[in-house]
Amino acid sequence: MTVTIHDLRSWKSEGRRWAMLTAYDFPTAQILDRAGIPVLLVGDSVGRNVLGYANELPVTMEEMLHHTRAVARGVEHAMVVGDMPFMSFQASIEDGVRNAGRLVKEGGAHAVKLEGAQFDLVHRLVDIGIPVMAHIGLTPQSVYGLGGYRVQGRGEAAAKVLDQAHSLEKSGAFSIVLEAMPADLGAEIAKELQIPTIGIGAGSGTDAQVLVINDLLGLNEKVPKFAKQYVDLRQTIATAAEAFVADVEAGTFPDEEHVYS
Ligand code: KIV
Repeated sequence: MTVTIHDLRSWKSEGRRWAMLTAYDFPTAQILDRAGIPVLLVGDSVGRNVLGYANELPVTMEEMLHHTRAVARGVEHAMVVGDMPFMSFQASIEDGVRNAGRLVKEGGAHAVKLEGAQFDLVHRLVDIGIPVMAHIGLTPQSVYGLGGYRVQGRGEAAAKVLDQAHSLEKSGAFSIVLEAMPADLGAEIAKELQIPTIGIGAGSGTDAQVLVINDLLGLNEKVPKFAKQYVDLRQTIATAAEAFVADVEAGTFPDEEHVYS
């Protein structure tokens, strides 16, 4: 059974905390699904973490569909959330409806995520049966407008973020990502909303936590302050590659075990 929006709502009322991770490909999705991660986000962070872009802005619908399909093929239980890339919904509600529909219909996503205070679009998508995960605080698609990747909602700005959270809940979002904000604001939003809040750099008071898989696995050169690296796969991969090179150069691979008779 796939995890549903109702499961997430029940977990909130039971006070059960849960984890979300990004996934961008089939094997990773399969591993994370089997490990029991209930929600996999095919984030537009695929741009920086897999495609080598400087930021999220160049990511296209076609790229999101390509990666969402691969992740959807790998899961048996996890809810797959497809991220709406920059300019797939900002110009009009029609664009947003069409592209969210594509992520579900062609990509195999069970829900979509979209950044910002897009109340009317959220309402419209929910109306046509597409669950929406909202995303406020630091919204990377607005990196230029925000003047960089900066913590949001400090001081007087907190009231606006809280207000947006309430309005997105009223618009019908089933959950909301809170990115890069003071921990007390993250906790306050989690306390006030009925829907699950998913923090990334928003402290420990949110209902769920999300990390970018590359940060967790140590695949990137730098790990942001709010992320925790659990293994050093860069080093593991480099060590494996060096061992292979050494075997090939020494003529010790392939050995008896790895040849056909
Ligand atoms: O694209 C992404 O990975 C995200 C998460 C950081 C929430 O939006």
